[in-house]
Amino acid sequence: MKKIIIGNWKMNPLTLKDAGKLFSSVTKGIYGIKKTDVVICPPVLYIERLKKLSKKISLGAQDAFWGEVGPFTGQISAHMLYNAGIRYVILGHSERRELSETSHGDFNLVKNQLEECLNGVSKNSISKVIVMYEPVWAISSTANRRDATSGDCREMAIFIRKILSDKFGGEVANVRIIYGGSVSGKNAEDFLKNGGVDGLLPGRASLDAKKFVEIIKIAEKI
Ligand code: PGA
Repeated sequence: MKKIIIGNWKMNPLTLKDAGKLFSSVTKGIYGIKKTDVVICPPVLYIERLKKLSKKISLGAQDAFWGEVGPFTGQISAHMLYNAGIRYVILGHSERRELSETSHGDFNLVKNQLEECLNGVSKNSISKVIVMYEPVWAISSTANRRDATSGDCREMAIFIRKILSDKFGGEVANVRIIYGGSVSGKNAEDFLKNGGVDGLLPGRASLDAKKFVEIIKIAEKI
């Protein structure tokens, strides 16, 4: 399965100019990358401009609203993103949920969230879905965070694949499961080799072109 590295810029950087610089540095850095899909999810305000800078990097949004159009101040629908040529969107990120405390290895929570998210997804479209496992307690901005290991990740990846195949059967062989939570150049290889996942979603590390490119190059070699 083709690996995928998705940079989640969150609410960064502060100006379009800085966004352009960061994006261009990544573009230069990934020259020659062929086997790895690269996606960047910047603030939606920057997408149109960044799209013009590179065809090699796909752009994604960090959230979408249900429905198509309507009286929902401040929201952007998946249809609007699609019509604007955007083919990726992060849905259900913990920073978008009103999430209460979760404990380490909470399988029930993952099962519930996954089933809720897949509600309405058909067998025909499941292969377009990428499932991200990202324990809140491992995110770089979480106070008192702790590291997730590739073992934690593998255990959850197997669990997720089982839930998917129970619901969709053989179709899920092509569904990519990825890991997020303090991904860096130091742990990327371990997660990709031993974590049972097909890609990574770095947040903080994606704001540094060198670090982000390093992660992409690790994925490319595996
Ligand atoms: P992090 O963020 O890599 O900075 O932990 C990942 C995320 O929350 O998407």
